[in-house]
Amino acid sequence: MKLLVPIVALIALVVSRVQAFYSVGENENTHVTITHNAVMAKIREVCEAVAESEGRDFKPMNSSAEELLHACLGRATGEVSGAKFRTALNQIYKQNGFVDQDFMSSAPHHFNNEAFKEGRNLIIQGIVAIKANVRTDNFQSARETLGRVCHTLQDFYSHSNWVELGNQSPYANLISPGLNIESITDIEMPTCSDCASGTCPNQLLPAILNGKYLTSGYTGLFSSVKPEGKCSHGGETDLSSSQNPRGGISKDESHPYNANLHRDAVNLAAEATMELLEDIRGAIGNQNYLRLMGIARSAVLAFVIDTTGSMGDDIAEAKRIAFSIIDKKKGTQDEPSEYILVPFNDPDFGPLLRTTDPAVMKSEISKISANGGGDTPEMCLSALQLALTGAPSSSYIYVFTDAPPKDTHLENTIKALESSTKSTVSFMLTASSRRRRALSASSQFQMYYDMALASGGQAIEVSKSSISQATAIIVDTSSSALVTILQCSRDPGREENFPFLLDRSLSNTIIYITGTSLTFNLRSPTRVTQSNTVVNGPLGTIQTVGNLQRIQLTGTEMGLWHIDMTTTRPYTIKVMGQSAITFIYDFVEEFKGPHPGFAAIDGRPKSGSPVKLLLTLTGEKGPEALELQEVALMEVSGVKVSKGTTEKMANGDYLVTVNEVPEGEFVIRLKGKDKTFTSLFQRQTTTLMSQSKVTIKARADSSMLPGQVFKLNFTVTTKGTSGTYTIRARNDKNIPMNHPSTLNLVSGGSAQGTVSLTPPGDTVSGTDVTLTIQAESPGRSDSNYAVLRLSVLSKVTDFTPPKCEIVNVKGICDSSSCNSSNWELSVNITDGYGTGIESISIQQGSGNFTQREVLDGVIVVMGLYEASCCSPSVTLSAVDKVGNVGRCSNTMKSNTGSRLVSMSLPLWASLLLYTFLPDAFPM
Ligand SMILES: *[C@@H]1O[C@H](CO)[C@@H](O)[C@H](O)[C@H]1NC(C)=O
Ligand SMILES: *[C@@H]1O[C@H](CO)[C@@H](O)[C@H](O)[C@H]1NC(C)=O
Ligand SMILES: *[C@@H]1O[C@H](CO)[C@@H](O)[C@H](O)[C@H]1NC(C)=O
Ligand SMILES: *[C@@H]1O[C@H](CO)[C@@H](O)[C@H](O)[C@H]1NC(C)=O
Ligand SMILES: *[C@@H]1O[C@H](CO)[C@@H](O)[C@H](O)[C@H]1NC(C)=O
Repeated sequence: MKLLVPIVALIALVVSRVQAFYSVGENENTHVTITHNAVMAKIREVCEAVAESEGRDFKPMNSSAEELLHACLGRATGEVSGAKFRTALNQIYKQNGFVDQDFMSSAPHHFNNEAFKEGRNLIIQGIVAIKANVRTDNFQSARETLGRVCHTLQDFYSHSNWVELGNQSPYANLISPGLNIESITDIEMPTCSDCASGTCPNQLLPAILNGKYLTSGYTGLFSSVKPEGKCSHGGETDLSSSQNPRGGISKDESHPYNANLHRDAVNLAAEATMELLEDIRGAIGNQNYLRLMGIARSAVLAFVIDTTGSMGDDIAEAKRIAFSIIDKKKGTQDEPSEYILVPFNDPDFGPLLRTTDPAVMKSEISKISANGGGDTPEMCLSALQLALTGAPSSSYIYVFTDAPPKDTHLENTIKALESSTKSTVSFMLTASSRRRRALSASSQFQMYYDMALASGGQAIEVSKSSISQATAIIVDTSSSALVTILQCSRDPGREENFPFLLDRSLSNTIIYITGTSLTFNLRSPTRVTQSNTVVNGPLGTIQTVGNLQRIQLTGTEMGLWHIDMTTTRPYTIKVMGQSAITFIYDFVEEFKGPHPGFAAIDGRPKSGSPVKLLLTLTGEKGPEALELQEVALMEVSGVKVSKGTTEKMANGDYLVTVNEVPEGEFVIRLKGKDKTFTSLFQRQTTTLMSQSKVTIKARADSSMLPGQVFKLNFTVTTKGTSGTYTIRARNDKNIPMNHPSTLNLVSGGSAQGTVSLTPPGDTVSGTDVTLTIQAESPGRSDSNYAVLRLSVLSKVTDFTPPKCEIVNVKGICDSSSCNSSNWELSVNITDGYGTGIESISIQQGSGNFTQREVLDGVIVVMGLYEASCCSPSVTLSAVDKVGNVGRCSNTMKSNTGSRLVSMSLPLWASLLLYTFLPDAFPM
């Protein structure tokens, strides 16, 4: 909304910033702050309702995101990391930048040029998509759409004359599918008077104001042409504002001449955002709403399992470890919030199982058995592709197999997905002895080693009989608040000393070293040493299985530790622990335009220019308790370290610029200080990154229809060699598609291509399709990729919400002893001739709901809500099959008089004490 001019301030458009609740800073009304404030306020409300229904307290000590997360999840044992929450919020906020960058000149996205119907259409379609995506558990797609919808919705208040028309509340028709936008001015109708200074308090013509006509400003980025007599948006980049009528009606920025209008626009935009969030919450329910907002325990258990004949032992072990994790971690913060399972064989793979219910995971993994195939190469990468696109970002994924992949054409797709999702993939490899003789182990599994390293995971080779000793690593990583302190790899190996810093917040520190016949020494800050041959030493316990050595430290002594490697064989080192202090990041690029800023890039950053990243630091006590000291890009396989310059933004966000980027693959290393304990800490990312001279740009903002061709344009640009670039596109749902196999490019130029996808007619509405497009330079020396999430949505024709009608309220509540009395509410819920009731839930209230269906021309659900008088309010929400929401609310007023008096009142008098709120408003 705000057109901020200094670029640094514009970070706000793309990054999360945590502000005090409900307070909107004077000059800081950006889309992100408006969205953020609404998002946080709604989270509080939902957390409170959930806590009430679970009979626990919800008392965040302050307004920090970390504190809110803690209070919302309840204080079960274990660490809670804010990373997942911050990542989810950023997935929403990042879309703002995209709307201003990629849809800069699209009038509907900004409600410019009186494109009201089209703008509203984007919102309505977006809301349908969000609900359908959540129903199919595709939360990331839902967040991305939500981010874009918020932007467009908020722009209505800034770019139209809704505020000038004197409206005091948001325009409900923008988010109500059944209602249309009314009284839009005609194209011939003049709307503004001329304003030579460009700073007029009210340019709208009296005829428009008196007639209550809706209009918005025209904007011309490339041309000054606009229909006669029409208002402009205004501002330097809007060329149309130099045409009579000059000036503009945009309320993006606050100026002396429009301060009140700006303020009203911001407030209405904020209220409208709350209403939008409330509609979504009603449709998806409280639990899913919190998942959508990233409020969930951070551990995810994700297995990709080979089910060919030789895998019997491995499958048994995968089952054992899954059962053990589910049973042991139940009720703790380490309990996985989600389970992913993808089986594969030859030639079949999938389907992907994704569930939050541990019982479903147990039953599905129990059904897996080994058969057919033998140990021939299999469809491992196809299955891994499903897991990478289906799991939340930054998950740990384990692949169990005993054979090399057959579908090697997916190698680059997997690497692109690994870096785009920041998930870590590890392989449990159990080659049978027969095959081991034929091929040297390292060569047959080389691709797995490369993929593991690219994502920061490990390739662990063990015999089938000892696999149960290797799976301890899965237990280690299925905990919350996991952080990496150091990761590096050397091939060929060399004698080297690896220092790493352990801080006070860390617990459960474990070192993993992979490689064969390795020799090393571990040194503590107080110079105690332990060599690799000492299994139970003064520093820890070393467990060796196959090529993996797992060193569990006995205590986490704060300070600088060292691993002295004294070997020339290849090795990898990884040091991990549990801590709430962590960071998340995105590579970003700057863009110009009417609302310039920084936008996240999803491929590899451009070479030849400095790398910029936006980084969010989080810890248990919020970002204020932490001090960032150094950010550097570090080669994983080399020794080069490039330090960046950092610029502090609000609340834990930093903009980092690195001028000299390592040539090869690098990770990000961060050093800082925990001010509470004056303890230094170090953290590292594990996803390998590198720069590229090739870029691919593609952005989709509409969904696909089942059975219809969907075309997506993409642009490839290169600063590398001229010639024929190879184009590859893959999607994870096997949807038939066409695309050019090559594009001709000259150095410094670009070329456009189109991918056409045709989802089958029977695709389930809400299906999420991950499309990966790659471009490779001639000679295969350089490449880049774009990863897009697209949704398939059936056309929605039912826009009528279910009707919830209050039939009766019974009971008397006495405030002096609320827990000794109950009250009840009877409702009739119908969906007329719509798609039918899908679910009815208690949105707020801790009582019990029972229902029965009767057929009375249409289906009527007769519901009875019973609650204790200690829980005097209820909101019931009824959702139909496409996500339209109908609600009923009721609040019992307690009798504040003395018990005796209230008892002595006649019945009719007590009845007057009920508040009766027939609040069955159709949303
Ligand atoms: C928020 O409350 C937590 C828990 O009491 C405290 O540790 C932290 O310092 C507080 N943060 C702020 C910003 O006040
Ligand atoms: C895609 O590119 C074609 C050809 O340049 C163009 O006609 C079409 O409008 C573009 N589609 C979109 C959605 O931008
Ligand atoms: C509620 O539904 C039942 C069943 O259709 C009907 O008999 C009853 O009259 C309805 N009550 C009201 C107040 O509409
Ligand atoms: C009812 O509430 C009172 C005070 O709020 C409390 O002392 C009492 O233990 C409660 N009784 C029950 C059965 O929960
Ligand atoms: C709700 O159901 C539970 C379990 O059946 C019961 O213990 C409780 O008393 C019920 N509450 C009300 C208000 O009826």
